[in-house]
This record gives sequence, C-alpha cells and structure tokens, in this order.
Amino acid sequence: MTTRRATRSREGPVGSVGRTIENEDRVGDDDAQKARAAQFAADLVEDGMTVGLGTGSTVAYLLPALAKRHLDLVCVATSPATQEKAEELGLNVVDFSSLKSLDLAIDGADEVDPEGWLIKGGGGAHTREKIVAAASERYVVIVSENKVVDQLKGPVPLELSAFGLAATLAHLGEAHLRSEPPSPDGGLLGYYDGPITDLREVARWLDSVPGVIAHGLFPPTMVTDIVIGRDHDVERRSPKT
Ligand code: 5RP
Repeated sequence: MTTRRATRSREGPVGSVGRTIENEDRVGDDDAQKARAAQFAADLVEDGMTVGLGTGSTVAYLLPALAKRHLDLVCVATSPATQEKAEELGLNVVDFSSLKSLDLAIDGADEVDPEGWLIKGGGGAHTREKIVAAASERYVVIVSENKVVDQLKGPVPLELSAFGLAATLAHLGEAHLRSEPPSPDGGLLGYYDGPITDLREVARWLDSVPGVIAHGLFPPTMVTDIVIGRDHDVERRSPKT
C-alpha cells in the first residue's frame, strides 16, 4: 500500500469537470488512473437507474464515460459544474428535491484509508456529496492510487454557516476559512486543522458543532465500493464496516 500523501485538489468545482477519457494514454499517471477508475464505475450503471454524480477531476472522466453508454438515467448533480457538464454531454439531470433515494452514486475522494474512511470536499462540494451519498443505495468511490493512504491526514474540509461564524471558528479551535467563494447553498468553506487520530470521535464531534453544516469525513458505513485506478488495471475494495 502506498503511503504517499494524497494530492489535495484545491481547485473549486468550476473547471474541474469536462476531461475526456479518449486521451488516457497521453495524460499523467494520476489522470490515467482516474480515467480507469471512472470507466469501471460507469460500467456499473444500469439502464433505468437514478444516479448521483459527484464533483471533481475524477468525476470529470466519469461523465463522458457514462454519457457514451446512452442509458436511460435520472441523474442528480452535486455541484453546478457537474450539472453543467453532465447536461452538455446529454445526461438527464434533475433537481434533488423530489427524489427520496438514489440507486447509485459515484464520486471521487481526497484521501481513502484502509478501513474505507474518506476525506472529501477538496472541491468544496462535500455537503451535497454527503447528502447524495447518504441517499444512495450504493456509493462508489473512484480514486487514483495516490489517494490511498495508511492514515488520513487532513485537513478536513468544512462548510460553515455564516451566521455566528466567529463563534463557530472559536468553538472549533484549529480551523481556518478557505479563500474560495461560498458553496452554492451559501455556506462558507473552511478546514478543520486539528488532529484526526480517532476518526469516529472527530466526526462525531464535528457533527455536534452547531455552526458546522457538514464536514468532509465520510465513514466506511456510507461507502459500498472503492475503485482504485492503477497503471494497468483497477482494484475494487469493500470498506471494512
Ligand atoms: C469535491 C470532492 C472531490 O471528490 C475530491 O476533492 C476529489 O477530487 P478530484 O477527483 O479532483 O481529485 O470531494 O468536493
């Protein structure tokens, strides 16, 4: 298992979608691995499914791979950038206010640990991504192998309420705001910089801070499949729940 630090994408949702899978051999290793994982996940989707679409550069490979299959799908997007690109590619994207559940969601991650805990939200979309993950019968995470780490390191992305912001930051202690625009739902983006040795405890504590709308720690119980793109193949893991 690699212990390389996952490359945290600081790129916002805009501009991080829209890659194509055709030129897989001409792009860097990580990109080829992302494309491979994305293609594997796209092949898991079946006609008639309701599908959650994540956000980020790995999902950017998923969208064209999925569109090419010409399936009859109802999709929900986790960011305006994903929605725009998915629609451009001809995918049917609906508002996520009336669907009670989804058959499958596919998303990237910033870090994945051996148990299947994830850090997500490098692209600032973790609140919507968590809502979609929780509503999905199956949640497939697609990553290049550098995202797989022995231990999550953080920082942990946060979406914070603007109301009472100073009090929330004081409550969190080791946290800072990101210099990025608010989420599409108006929350401010930040990071929790404190230690995250006990992931269950940190997740429970972040969940309990009232001004935290959502944090980027996703437990293994939320994940059904982890698809790791490697140089010549993909590895599919089940989280240890
Ligand atoms: C966005 C996310 C992304 O899934 C995560 O940041 C991974 O992005 P990328 O596929 O670009 O490496 O959580 O909020």
